[in-house]
Amino acid sequence: MTIAVRAAVAPSARAIFLLTRQGADLRRHPWFVRLPATARQTALAFVRAKEFTGKADETRVIPFSAGRAVVLLGLGEAKSFTHRQAMLASRRVVAIAKQHRLQDVAVALDDLKLMGWSTEQLAQLVAENFHLAHYDYTAYRTPPPGGWPQVKRITLAVSPDDKAAVERGVRTGTIIGQATNAARDLANTPGGDMTPTVLANAAVVAGKRFGFRVTVMKKAQLERLGMGGVLGVARGSHLPPTFSILEYTPRGKSKTAPIVFVGKGVTFDSGGLNVKPDSGMYEMHMDMSGGAAVIAALSAIAQLKLSVRVIGLIPAVENMSAADAYRPGDQLRSLSGKTIEVMHTDAEGRVILADALTYAERYKPAAVIDVATLTGAAMVALGQRAAALLSPNESFSEELHKLAEQAGDFGWPLPLWQEYEADVRGTFGDVANSSKTRYGGAITGAAFLWQFAKKFKRWAHVDIAPTMTTIEGQHLAKGSAGAGVRLLVAFARHHA
Ligand code: BES
Ligand code: MN
Ligand code: ZN
Repeated sequence: MTIAVRAAVAPSARAIFLLTRQGADLRRHPWFVRLPATARQTALAFVRAKEFTGKADETRVIPFSAGRAVVLLGLGEAKSFTHRQAMLASRRVVAIAKQHRLQDVAVALDDLKLMGWSTEQLAQLVAENFHLAHYDYTAYRTPPPGGWPQVKRITLAVSPDDKAAVERGVRTGTIIGQATNAARDLANTPGGDMTPTVLANAAVVAGKRFGFRVTVMKKAQLERLGMGGVLGVARGSHLPPTFSILEYTPRGKSKTAPIVFVGKGVTFDSGGLNVKPDSGMYEMHMDMSGGAAVIAALSAIAQLKLSVRVIGLIPAVENMSAADAYRPGDQLRSLSGKTIEVMHTDAEGRVILADALTYAERYKPAAVIDVATLTGAAMVALGQRAAALLSPNESFSEELHKLAEQAGDFGWPLPLWQEYEADVRGTFGDVANSSKTRYGGAITGAAFLWQFAKKFKRWAHVDIAPTMTTIEGQHLAKGSAGAGVRLLVAFARHHA
């Protein structure tokens, strides 16, 4: 799908979308008079019969000749039209086009104008969401007779003065949207085909393609380093662990303090010996979504040529049960030297992240963010509409909250007070991998990670378990949502 920017009043596409707010007069739309007379009459008939009033989610498709159509799309009340509605409306354009097999579409960017947003920001938002909506995961499905529905081209019509800004925004949005889709591809890949080694290779391929360095440490290297956390969890699987290091260094910045992104790369989480109930295991091939987000974020950052050094760290394992699997009660010697007392083998993500956080110390980072599908408790707390943002530095989680809101990769802060640290103290070891209380699991998960992040002035944990998959009403394909990518890129841009 390509997005073309045209400084033109009259669109020449085969499908013409008129996006209108509730109560607005359709005849006032600059494109209305140029529509074919039959389409115009049908549109007005809809308006007269109150079958199109511009309410949010209202859609009328008016075909007027083979493969050609006018589409009326309601945006809802003007006063409640925010960037959230603009994101959804952009996705609806693509979803409707796909549904009706309209391959060549035109939209007027001004229809989506937002208070407080520059033209460039709006163009980015629109392009990003076009790409997100166009995505589908079809790798393992037989295509239907006419092939998978695709939109070949969307023309964004803009006023001549805006053209340059819109082109910049479209370029940024395309990079970020496509990177997010690449993360979705990785996360959607079944566990049997997405192993720690395959995930590491995906990082290598992305590094070669977009221009960042990737080093993959294998099991022997992790043993030499003493990554007892990663090695401990990996023991239950016949698949060896990997630890990928991604380094993006812009020109002239090789000596500056980098930001570090850490991504959980559990390629399948069975729960280990304290096995998950069957209903909880189904989507656990996506438990490497954090790792995928880090690969995708670096891919986008490198393409955007941001002037900030960024390191990505991805510990990758499969959490299985076997004769040699780690057991409840085991003590694992982590890279930090602290022992991790295994209370529950299903709390494996934090165990591998502990080593990665310690490894991050060597970069003396300006900020560290880890992204992980860490707890079901985060979903209990927030539902499926926001990731949990946790940091002992409240202004940092607040900063991420604002960036997440703008980016459409929503997040909400939870507290991480010192008092919570008591919940993860070990009995016979230093730190317990699951809490003494069954309450506040998203917070105690973060409290565990915090024990390995004490050296960082700015560290935040983003629990993306809630937003791991798309949900009804988002106008996105079933499966991975690519959570975390837009937030990490937004943070890097903000920091640069
Ligand atoms: N990967 C899971 C968390 C998860 C659940 C992510 C559902 C996405 C959707 C994680 O490894 C896990 O099993 N967490 C446990 C922690 C508990 C044993 C302390 C959980 O949430 O139950
Ligand atoms: Mn688990
Ligand atoms: Zn997990």
